[in-house]
Amino acid sequence: MGSALPNDIDHVLLTEEQISSKLEEMAAQIDADYAGKDLLLVGVLKGAVMVMADLSRKLQHTTVAMDWMAVSSYGSGTKSSGVVRILKDLDADLEGRHVLIVEDIIDSGLTLSWLMSNLRSRGCASLEVAAMLRKPDAMKVELDVKYIGYDIPNEFVVGYGLDYAEKYRTLPYVGTLAPHVYEN
Ligand code: IMP
Ligand code: MG
Repeated sequence: MGSALPNDIDHVLLTEEQISSKLEEMAAQIDADYAGKDLLLVGVLKGAVMVMADLSRKLQHTTVAMDWMAVSSYGSGTKSSGVVRILKDLDADLEGRHVLIVEDIIDSGLTLSWLMSNLRSRGCASLEVAAMLRKPDAMKVELDVKYIGYDIPNEFVVGYGLDYAEKYRTLPYVGTLAPHVYEN
């Protein structure tokens, strides 16, 4: 890391280079698994924007389409409840499609669990998940996630699409927030 960290970031968990090389591996696996098939990437707004942009551009696969969904999980503060509301639905019809959900992070897993059963009910030919980050110690449901970037400790992280109060999404790395940010 060339420049000093912003004051609000306590430490860097994953560097830009670590993220990029992991996405390279994930893309190679996805390319191999979907060879000869059309693929629809479904990004979950807003957190997955960076993963979607970088992962999709590392795919050699040429018949890839992109669509977006925005959901909101009812709950207090940073805790997810599993009760999900669709803020923006997909444009695409999923009937007969090979769908890959692209996610930033799996925390409790409740949002993703709901999303998977919602999308599966729309008649996809296949449904899998690619998530950049997972917090195994926070997970409350069993989820079958095919492509995982990094397992991380159960701490609140920001950057690379992840926010705290809509800030820090544009940091190129994943870092933990300094305590003074929460205390204010
Ligand atoms: P889950 O339903 O608990 O798995 O929460 C999923 C969503 O909560 C993620 O897609 C993120 O948008 C958000 N989230 C969970 N953990 C973090 C974090 O550490 N930092 C920022 N956002 C998070
Ligand atoms: Mg998300």
